[in-house]
Amino acid sequence: MTHHLSRPETNDKTDLYLSLLPQTEALIRGEEDLIANMANLTALLKETFQYLWIGFYLVKGNELVLGPFQGPVACTRIAYGKGVCGKSWEKEEIIIVPDVNQFPGHIVCSTESQSEIVVPGIHHGKVKFVLDMDSRKLDEFDDTDAHYLPMMIEYILQHSKS
Ligand code: SME
Repeated sequence: MTHHLSRPETNDKTDLYLSLLPQTEALIRGEEDLIANMANLTALLKETFQYLWIGFYLVKGNELVLGPFQGPVACTRIAYGKGVCGKSWEKEEIIIVPDVNQFPGHIVCSTESQSEIVVPGIHHGKVKFVLDMDSRKLDEFDDTDAHYLPMMIEYILQHSKS
């Protein structure tokens, strides 16, 4: 099946997310493979927002291991509680970092990254993965991202088998 991203002529973040939600659902419906669904979600987000780096890290044992992503090469493993990703896993909550240089323990994968958001994917009370987005701009991410990204992650969690 062929899918084309339909992107409205706007830079309004809420409108862009509202356009992405049904497209995410359509892409994921009918596909149970977790990695395939993660891969397509990173592509949808990257094409829509053009952020520096968008990708997943999967919980494997006591560390996070790099999963599907779009952007420059990245570190492959992050320990529990380390960096923004490991901290989001530990705290089981979304972390928004307006300025990565102000976040103690931030792990630098690209010196171009200025701000970041990490959203944990929690299933049956356990973090299965985190979604990480990095921007070249300071203070890129806000409550709008924190509102809509979990909805997309929820589609993946509900419809994919790991
Ligand atoms: N900055 C992240 C590491 C992952 S990369 O940005 C892709 C962190 O501190 O966990």
